[in-house]
Amino acid sequence: MRAVRLHGQGPDTLVVEEVTTPRPASGEALVEVSAAAITRDELEWPQDRLPAIPSYELAGTVDGEPVYALTPFDRDGVAAEFAAVRQDLLAPRPQALDAVQSAAVPLPALSAWQGLFDHGALTAGQRVLITGAAGGVGNFATQLALRRGAHVIGAASAARADAVRRLGADEVVDSAGFSDGLAPVDLVFDTVGGELLERSVALVREGGRLVSVAEEPPTDARVATRYFVVEPRREPLVEITALIEAGHVRPAIDSVFPLDDARAAFERSMATGKAGKVVFSVAED
Ligand SMILES: NC(=O)c1ccc[n+]([C@@H]2O[C@H](COP(=O)([O-])OP(=O)(O)OC[C@H]3O[C@@H](n4cnc5c(N)ncnc54)[C@H](OP(=O)(O)O)[C@@H]3O)[C@@H](O)[C@H]2O)c1
Repeated sequence: MRAVRLHGQGPDTLVVEEVTTPRPASGEALVEVSAAAITRDELEWPQDRLPAIPSYELAGTVDGEPVYALTPFDRDGVAAEFAAVRQDLLAPRPQALDAVQSAAVPLPALSAWQGLFDHGALTAGQRVLITGAAGGVGNFATQLALRRGAHVIGAASAARADAVRRLGADEVVDSAGFSDGLAPVDLVFDTVGGELLERSVALVREGGRLVSVAEEPPTDARVATRYFVVEPRREPLVEITALIEAGHVRPAIDSVFPLDDARAAFERSMATGKAGKVVFSVAED
């Protein structure tokens, strides 16, 4: 089968090549991949097991049935014509979405779900600040937090502010100066890291939480801070699918590439100013 493989550091070391089609182990299914989405910085994740197939979220078919999933980060990903995926991770695809749109859901939506609700313990009526609110994870975090009944403050660069407003955020603040005059929040959900993450700690109320999916946050005696790695899981993906079918949540697609343009796709994923996820279209289904 054709697959994208990473041979070193960075997009320049990506090669589209023929590799052996995986043979599903017990409990796995062979998925014919229709589309696979990618995430900023993910080429840093498999550096201890090269060459490695990148991309950890797919939409495809098993025996003609449309499925989608987030796949584990400790083995080859899904930027290929086929992928062996644990059956207990595969969920039926939303009928409202095509394959490219579906592939853009599992990783950011599960990251948002787990960050807000499992680690952030967000409940209705609480105030949450979401950094990178127009990004891959931030897009879902904004929509899921609103759906939960939280008061959502989305932080984004000025160019992305309108995109966050369109998602329905209660307040939109500029990443460059968002701490000015903002009342304390119960939760910061950070998807950007760096200086923005450092600045946002001071905005959490005493006893509140700061959860980052981007990097380890600084410790602060007043606040519970945590970094987490998203876990592939089917059950919350089924709940997210129901929200998509009901029209409450939708993915954002920045751009679509064929596998042959893997380097350009990853370069795009690392750029600022994207309007959502970068997705490989692999095959019609
Ligand atoms: N730990 C985990 O399990 C896990 C899971 C998912 C994602 N992640 C990581 O979390 C981060 C966010 O993922 P994502 O898919 O939401 O990414 P993304 O859409 O590329 O980025 C989120 C936001 O960060 C800002 N940004 C984008 N590119 C940037 C760059 N090159 N430098 C600095 N800021 C940039 C943008 O905000 P503005 O346009 O508003 O400036 C963007 O909306 C990534 O680092 C990703 O690797 C980790």
